[in-house]
Amino acid sequence: MTTMTRFPVMSSRTISELMPGELPEVVMPSCESRPILRGQTAVVTGASSGIGRGIAASLCAAGANVVVNYIGSDSAADEVVHEATHCGCAHRGRAISVKGDVSDEEQVSALFRRAIEAFGTVDILVNNAGLQQDAPLESMTLAQWRKVIDVNLTGQFLCAREAVREFKRRGVRAGVSCSAGKIVCVSSVHEVIPWAGHVNYAASKGGVMLMMKSIAQEVAPWRIRVNSICPGAIRTPINRGAWETAEAYQDLMRLIPYKRIGEPEDIARLAVWLCSDEADYITGASLFVDGGMTLYPGFEAGG
Ligand code: BGC
Repeated sequence: MTTMTRFPVMSSRTISELMPGELPEVVMPSCESRPILRGQTAVVTGASSGIGRGIAASLCAAGANVVVNYIGSDSAADEVVHEATHCGCAHRGRAISVKGDVSDEEQVSALFRRAIEAFGTVDILVNNAGLQQDAPLESMTLAQWRKVIDVNLTGQFLCAREAVREFKRRGVRAGVSCSAGKIVCVSSVHEVIPWAGHVNYAASKGGVMLMMKSIAQEVAPWRIRVNSICPGAIRTPINRGAWETAEAYQDLMRLIPYKRIGEPEDIARLAVWLCSDEADYITGASLFVDGGMTLYPGFEAGG
């Protein structure tokens, strides 16, 4: 006689019913951080708003001197400098703002010259400047395609090249860091998630992925580390339409298993750690900070 083992059948309804209702408010850790970047200088591109702004403030709180690169309004950049240098952290570094377009070769050299003049050298580059110019494929103009590739991909190349030149020239600074330099590329979940209506943006981030890994491979023998952070939906001006109204926010939650939008600080905490010697054996990695957006959320209630 055979005995049948009965397995409970979990219907997708059961999984949906098991989902929690109200979730608690998120309380972010305070900015008081250990001075793990003391004595180092960081250039953060596109740092006058959004993720770049959060990263600039956190690097400064961790003891780094920060160059706030920006392209838009002078007063927004001044605010970031003020915020970063008045955060109350005892070991915070200094900060200056430097205007410049990352897609322009001459302006990128000028940015690094200015950083070296102000702080002596550059130890960290956060390749953050980026933008979206969305359109369906058939109406996307060549100008929209080029602008996004120029800023998001060519801009990261130009800044990485300048940083690597300085890292190699100077080498490891004993007592400051065990590596000769660190580059963090701010990529996106869209380096792996295709994005209809945003082919220029997804292509730029896919490009960042292999550019980052190829540079990481090339410069590793000089003890230079290169990694990417891949944010999901983070509450910044670039995607305001996706979180500003209650309906949009609810729609967005269908794409985020962790059921909250990300904050710039979620990205900034990783950026600080990745630039520190605590992450010394990490290079060539794309680290996703996305509340599970890359976990095929369409399957969260069963397949
Ligand atoms: C984009 C945002 C978008 C997020 C998730 C980011 O790279 O810039 O607009 O909300 O990816 O789709």
